[in-house]
Amino acid sequence: MPAQISHAMLPLATHDEGARQKFVTAMREQLTLKMLPDTRALYEGIVKPKFAREHGRAPQDRAEVRRAMGREPPHQLWSSALRTTQEMLWDSVGETVARELPSLVERAKATLPRSGGSLRLDPTLEIPRYLLAQDNHVMPGNYFTDIRDDGDVYAGAMYDRGVFIFLKGDKGGLSDGFGVLVCRFITERFPEFSPKRILDLGCTVGNSTLPYVDQFPGAEVHAIDVGAPCLRYAHARAEALGKRVHFSQQNAESTDFPDGFFDLIVSHLVLHETSNKAVPRIMRECHRLLGHGGLTLHAETPPYAGVDPFDQYLCDWDTHYNLEPFIGRLHELDQRRMMIDAGFKAADCVAETIPTYRPTADVASETVRRSLDKYGSKRTIWGAFKR
Ligand SMILES: C[S@@+](CC[C@H](N)C(=O)[O-])C[C@H]1O[C@@H](n2cnc3c(N)ncnc32)[C@H](O)[C@@H]1O
Repeated sequence: MPAQISHAMLPLATHDEGARQKFVTAMREQLTLKMLPDTRALYEGIVKPKFAREHGRAPQDRAEVRRAMGREPPHQLWSSALRTTQEMLWDSVGETVARELPSLVERAKATLPRSGGSLRLDPTLEIPRYLLAQDNHVMPGNYFTDIRDDGDVYAGAMYDRGVFIFLKGDKGGLSDGFGVLVCRFITERFPEFSPKRILDLGCTVGNSTLPYVDQFPGAEVHAIDVGAPCLRYAHARAEALGKRVHFSQQNAESTDFPDGFFDLIVSHLVLHETSNKAVPRIMRECHRLLGHGGLTLHAETPPYAGVDPFDQYLCDWDTHYNLEPFIGRLHELDQRRMMIDAGFKAADCVAETIPTYRPTADVASETVRRSLDKYGSKRTIWGAFKR
């Protein structure tokens, strides 16, 4: 795994903590990359034929695949091990963050202000029920729990280190690969588009936000999230990295920015953590916030339509076993319909599915590459121009 890029806010692991984090990474690689072809082979070679014998047809949807796979002991073992590594991930990062927390809080204060960014928190903001109901992807305390009352950054530090390990370093040393992907998409598809004000929804620690500062140097970049400890961390992290961003604690369903304030509104892997009622509200808010000629784009794993049931099941695994209850339903939404209902014109909708996969020495095998290429490594970037 490549090294995470160091900055003043990154929690620093001791030798033993680092060794535990490396172990978790290696175990996750084993399960999600190297053993994935075995999981598919189990389905194709045993589970699917058995299902066909019993029902006279192949499994038709992800729920049938899940129930059939769930009866197989080797798959139960794989699934249980994957969930366990998710818990181990947060345990291994958590011990570093808990030990470093007093110093991180001080470092956050010392970092400011360096690059001219800002932070606006709203202690009265109500956390949406879809986040309150569970600790998303098993992260203790989720994105918004303050465990200290003096400028807590616990959740932010947990996410910054945790997401790097979760992504196996594959999205770059600053875990900014999804922001880079959308920036590249914009400059390649719409080279004339030059936003002056940009908003990133659900920014967490600003990892996907910072590429916009580099890509559009003249623009004013804003980023919102509901989690205060993430935003404090994001602000200090951005300042430490010399990037000017204006962070504020707001719900993307209803913000306090004026009508037509932005030219570009983006989100990266956020909508699957909201609800099916919230997503249309967020699209309506994007429509309100965009000026004439503005663009909104959202990056997520592709919708399920046309995807084979086994791949759907793999993507949907987190819905059932990793405390991501809305993944499945988000992927069934009709994105184009939702944009039109939000006020955008059909002809102005944008949707493209593109690969994010970059071969590395570890995943060089053709079998592994094929199983990754099939679904898991693709992202759909969708949204619309407001005209
Ligand atoms: C998986 S993280 C996405 C992180 C980041 N965008 C990235 O690219 O890694 C989802 C983030 O969305 C935030 N979020 C969820 N619902 C939100 C809402 N309604 N308004 C603002 N932020 C929200 C969560 O607090 C969390 O920080």
